[in-house]
Amino acid sequence: MDCETSLRRPNDGTMLQALADLLPLLVSSEDAAIMAFGRLARDDGFSRASARALRMIEAEERVHFALVDGLTQQLPAAIDARGARQAARAFHAAIATPDAAQALAVVASIDAGTCTILGRLLRRGSVLAQVPHVVAVLTRIYSEEAGHVAVSRRLAMQAANAPRLLPPAHHARAELARLIRHFGNGLEGLGVDTDRLARDLVKLPPRLLA
Ligand SMILES: [Fe+2]
Ligand SMILES: [Fe+2]
Repeated sequence: MDCETSLRRPNDGTMLQALADLLPLLVSSEDAAIMAFGRLARDDGFSRASARALRMIEAEERVHFALVDGLTQQLPAAIDARGARQAARAFHAAIATPDAAQALAVVASIDAGTCTILGRLLRRGSVLAQVPHVVAVLTRIYSEEAGHVAVSRRLAMQAANAPRLLPPAHHARAELARLIRHFGNGLEGLGVDTDRLARDLVKLPPRLLA
């Protein structure tokens, strides 16, 4: 079944609106990830093998962007698209750092957080089971983000030690927990407890950068 067919079925309109309200979070994060990995891949400080791994991730982020943007085109407009864009822009400005090792730590922490968010959306019995194509897209992104976490944490730890990496990573997770509050309607409409998710996002996985 193709994407258009699956989203044009007479699904629960509330669920589709919730998805429409949530997707700007993913669209903005994929857009920011394309730029972040592109910048890192051009950084002189990495070996050729590392630069190649970073370019491969950049290419995957472009696919993710196209996939979530494609879903957006088939859904109603987000209720507060402008507010969502502003919140996402403020988030990405708040976590930006010119230090490549710290940028990798931030990316690892945010992509791990994205896996947590996607995991909640995709858990067994999820509201999203009504739209199998959306589940397929988010499942693909989930598994590739897990790969990005593995590469970025490894490169971050090769470049710097934990005392330099942990503060920006913790800061990024606190900002991510704050950002998702702007997407509470979408999350709750898809059966995700926003408060619990925010509490979990604040906690950086203890072994991520150690
Ligand atoms: Fe991505
Ligand atoms: Fe990623």
